[in-house]
Amino acid sequence: MTETLNISVKKIAQSKISQVDFKNIQFGKTYSDHMFTADYIDGEWKNARIEPYEMMHISPASPALHYGISVFEGLKAFKTADGVVNIFRADKNFERLNVSAERMCMPRLPADLYYEGLKALLEIDSEWVPDVEGTSLYIRPFIFSNDDYIGIRPSLNFKFMIITCPVGAYYAKPVKVKIEDHYVRAVEGGSGYCKTGCNYGPAIYPAKLAQDKGYDQLVWTDGKEHKYIEESGTMNIMFVIDGKLITPALGDTILNGITRNSVLAIARDWGMEVEERKVEVAEVVAAAREGKLEEAFGAGTAATIAHIQQIGYKDEDFELPPVENRKFSNKVLAELDNMKLGKIEDRFNWITKI
Ligand code: COI
Repeated sequence: MTETLNISVKKIAQSKISQVDFKNIQFGKTYSDHMFTADYIDGEWKNARIEPYEMMHISPASPALHYGISVFEGLKAFKTADGVVNIFRADKNFERLNVSAERMCMPRLPADLYYEGLKALLEIDSEWVPDVEGTSLYIRPFIFSNDDYIGIRPSLNFKFMIITCPVGAYYAKPVKVKIEDHYVRAVEGGSGYCKTGCNYGPAIYPAKLAQDKGYDQLVWTDGKEHKYIEESGTMNIMFVIDGKLITPALGDTILNGITRNSVLAIARDWGMEVEERKVEVAEVVAAAREGKLEEAFGAGTAATIAHIQQIGYKDEDFELPPVENRKFSNKVLAELDNMKLGKIEDRFNWITKI
């Protein structure tokens, strides 16, 4: 936006907050009172506004519906003991949103639209940031094509929106995962490094096949040989083997996860040996077989750390050490939680107070 951002506000007539049981909130089911929207029309972002969260009109020909021309982010806000709202690493989500937007032929989102929209929305819905232990406000910024045109070409019109929802734990317990050796999430040259709907929709079917066999999620492997581990479900994946923290290196096929980046920074700060490199399925399976796989976990905004309890590969299942014995992942999870809740010093400058 070139001129000063002028956000119009239309408040909800009656807040829905009294209907919410903050002690029992399921991920992604309850939305806060308001949403932020801006339109990209005639080459510029305009009409920044906050309105009640409600159903919206969209052209039935929108390329968002037909071709997945949509990108999104996920970040969280936390309420500290003294009632301050903290957001965690919102700048990284902004950077990544624009990386995804470029890949999907969308215009760059200006920083003021993102930050001022986020701030205004969180101020108006600050009561929706829960303070019950283990909860937070999940923030979902997204951009999608708002063209009324079914042909294939870069879109001309877009909407940028932010919605928020109070959330509890993403996974109720440690997860059982299956190393996928047929289906593929991402390939070299594809869009796996982006947060676009195109990466998530097609992943649901293979995950469902694994869920039908008793697993919670998949471990994705490379698209050429299924030889290297890439991600787990919708998260980055990490292992502790021989006291070293090992995770697949970033590239075309791997999301530049903000929790991933935070966990690696903390591990390095603690003096732990960290390896970002290609991780072979064979070495993880061998470590699990020999009892050397000390810890395995997914790292993502929704779950923060999702402990992996069991790994299945081909026809074998490997049980991992009990979660309570896992030194690193428990310690790093506590460190991140304490940082987000303002209980310890924000030594990396990751927190923004609203
Ligand atoms: C995350 O783990 O942070 C995600 O992106 C999950 C989301 C797709 C619900």
